[in-house]
Amino acid sequence: MTQTNESSGPYLVCSGLFKIYKVADLEVVALRGLELSVDRGEVIAVVGASGSGKSTMLNILAGYDTPSAGTVRVGRFDLLNMTNKEVVEYRRQEVGFIWQETSRNLFPYLTAYENVELPMLLTGVPSRTRRERANELLEIVGLGHRHTHRPAQLSGGEQQRVAIAVALANRPPLLLADEPTGELDDETASEVLDLLNNVNQELGTTIVIVTHDPAISSSVGRAIAIRDGKTSTETTRAVSFERAIGGDTDSDIEEFLLVDSSGSIQIPREVFDELAIRRRVRLGVTDGRVTLESGE
Ligand SMILES: Nc1ncnc2c1ncn2[C@@H]1O[C@H](COP(=O)(O)OP(=O)(O)OP(=O)(O)O)[C@@H](O)[C@H]1O
Ligand SMILES: [Mg+2]
Repeated sequence: MTQTNESSGPYLVCSGLFKIYKVADLEVVALRGLELSVDRGEVIAVVGASGSGKSTMLNILAGYDTPSAGTVRVGRFDLLNMTNKEVVEYRRQEVGFIWQETSRNLFPYLTAYENVELPMLLTGVPSRTRRERANELLEIVGLGHRHTHRPAQLSGGEQQRVAIAVALANRPPLLLADEPTGELDDETASEVLDLLNNVNQELGTTIVIVTHDPAISSSVGRAIAIRDGKTSTETTRAVSFERAIGGDTDSDIEEFLLVDSSGSIQIPREVFDELAIRRRVRLGVTDGRVTLESGE
């Protein structure tokens, strides 16, 4: 494994990420030069339409899949150069994962408590610590009173809460959540998002949420749009989450175009249409400002 010095840079970096799936004789390009950079302790959302490459990106970040090209680094792990042992270590210690399909997150025949305890059994956590941590996590997710319930005896929102507790059982520094609110009603979805923000505050966990729901952007510090396998724009909130949920101003929201490692930007479709851009643009630089106009 290549040792990297993360103290000098972001905690998580994807650069020039490509993923090409082969189906029969056809190639499907799921990621095309995706860039992503996340600091330790951030909560970010990657927002995109169905098929834009969200799950593909998240599965690569989780160490379940490898990209066709590019680099991925998380903490001290270089995800393209890990031994099998390091892959296991990475999945068990560094990252917690919440699957898009809720039924994949929990074992149906285990109680909520047993589901949370299981990942710790697999990593050899002593029984007393397991007990304390499982109790604490179920308390954090607001299910202290549901220890003995099996998934079928819990509501959809409660199941997702248990899934969050399971994903956090081994205290991973990184939590990846694939559409964690996809199957929930608006109110329950917003409770789950509040919970993820609480987890971030209480445990310092870095959280990456992927979703098709642009409304989630208002619940996170930074939202990044993904289009056709590439991150294109980013919206940041200057206000803290506490102030934001207090109904504070939206005026501190800023949108940026992302520049990839080769200097490319994606011109938003509406601007593209308005300027009637076809094949090329004329570039101007005046007083530190860049202007683009259609060059036919
Ligand atoms: N195992 C696979 N084999 C072939 N093509 C795949 C595979 N997985 C994903 N794809 C294709 O890659 C593209 C991106 O898929 P992905 O699952 O990452 O999208 P997504 O943004 O998560 O969509 P959704 O919001 O519907 O979950 C899609 O065109 C999909 O058909
Ligand atoms: Mg998906």
